[in-house]
Amino acid sequence: LSPDQIESAESPGISEMSFPFSAAAAIPLYPLISGLSAFLLFCLTLQLIKSAFCWRSKVQKLDEEFPGPPRHWLLGHLREFQANEYGLAKFLEALPNHPYCNPVFFGPFPFFINLVHPDYVPMLSGLLAHVAPKMDKVYGFLRPWLGDGLLVANGNKWYRRRRLLTPSFHFDILKPYMKVYNTSAQIMLDKWEKLCQSGQSVELFEHVSLMTLDSLLKCAFSYNSNCQTRSQTEIPYIKAVYDVSHLVTNRLIFVPHHSDFLFSFSPSGFRFRKALSVLHTFTRSVIQKRKESLAHLGQPCHSKLSRCLESMSGRKYLDFLDMLLATKDDGGNGLTDEEIENEVDTFMFEGHDTTASGISWILYNLAKHPEHQDKCREEIQEVLQGRQEVEWDDLPKLEFTTMCIKESLRTHPPVTMTWRTLTKNVELPDGRTIPEGTHVSIGIFAVHHHPAVWEEPEVSQ
Ligand code: HEM
Repeated sequence: LSPDQIESAESPGISEMSFPFSAAAAIPLYPLISGLSAFLLFCLTLQLIKSAFCWRSKVQKLDEEFPGPPRHWLLGHLREFQANEYGLAKFLEALPNHPYCNPVFFGPFPFFINLVHPDYVPMLSGLLAHVAPKMDKVYGFLRPWLGDGLLVANGNKWYRRRRLLTPSFHFDILKPYMKVYNTSAQIMLDKWEKLCQSGQSVELFEHVSLMTLDSLLKCAFSYNSNCQTRSQTEIPYIKAVYDVSHLVTNRLIFVPHHSDFLFSFSPSGFRFRKALSVLHTFTRSVIQKRKESLAHLGQPCHSKLSRCLESMSGRKYLDFLDMLLATKDDGGNGLTDEEIENEVDTFMFEGHDTTASGISWILYNLAKHPEHQDKCREEIQEVLQGRQEVEWDDLPKLEFTTMCIKESLRTHPPVTMTWRTLTKNVELPDGRTIPEGTHVSIGIFAVHHHPAVWEEPEVSQ
């Protein structure tokens, strides 16, 4: 091409090149955006249809392999799954038709498989913690309160802490505290004596909770709170425990609140944070007081626990909190302040609430069965021989009373369910397989009332 030709060839070229841009600027954006939106909507609809088919075939497979009690097409078993007598009764109603295990649906989705037969429980409870870690949906709701304390922790965290804290679960650890239990119980009985004189009815659970908290604080944390005799406003801890437990249970049942975001902006989330602040303030003050007393007694201990306890407090036993402060793993690492706080929160809650529930139900059952109550009283009077206080060596002699306590724990267990998530396929005794990723629970209440074990499960035996 000659330079002239190049020039004449370039100019239309340049103008052609620039044409599309100016033309695009001339096209209104609206049809482009609406076209794109329609396409996106189409893709989304396809995806939804695919997910719906996937979900349907998954549910059909689950229904075939693990048939369960009838459910609402949209709500699933949410109407039946309630944290009260009604909810527990519904579990028992399902037992004759589904005696081994059954899925529980939250909304249209299966949420967990509930194991209800005693033969199926060892399968789950025998699994190692890393094969069946605690289900994050449930236990994670407690994390803002209990952190990674033993009840909530999973994996290596759990193993490490469990190893450090196993001595605190030894039965003999309770031995030196008989005096504390006797004194705490006497304070409660004195209060009841006065209340009964005025003819008032008494809400037992509140009083028993204060009594178990009083004992726990003295035994585990060397903390004399006088919580039984002080007014409720001075010890708001019990009410805060009640509020948090209630809010966590409701959160489990109200599926939108499974989202941390939605829960934290809801009124329940607000109440939850308020109660947490009460709980954490209380535990921090208990830890702080103990640290201050230990500082008066001597330096923090880095020797073996047994020597440490004697030098710290001159006693032959170590309080749980002292052990938390002094304990070291093989690498010589102790617990951080946050870990100590988590364990104090955990033991404070687990230690007083479960026992308060257990004792309240025992009293209820003894009231319902005066003939058993009389027999317990006779047995205790015979063993105590006029003494006012129960001693450690008396306990094995109280055979009938122990049977009544155990029977009440069977009919009214303080913890009614536990939850795990399977990280592997697990085979059931009947050959069926629960796939990896499934949430599984042990239905403690249902197992305790299973007609395969008890002819008349509702009758106290
Ligand atoms: C009648 C009284 C009690 C009952 C019925 C009871 C029941 C239970 C149950 C069923 C679990 C398993 C929870 C799960 O895995 O989801 C558990 C765990 C636990 N309990 Fe208790 N408990 C009682 C008393 C206590 C006391 C007095 C303490 C402490 C002072 C305590 C501390 C704990 C702790 C720390 C865990 C977590 C253990 C771990 O995961 O390694 N419990 N309890």
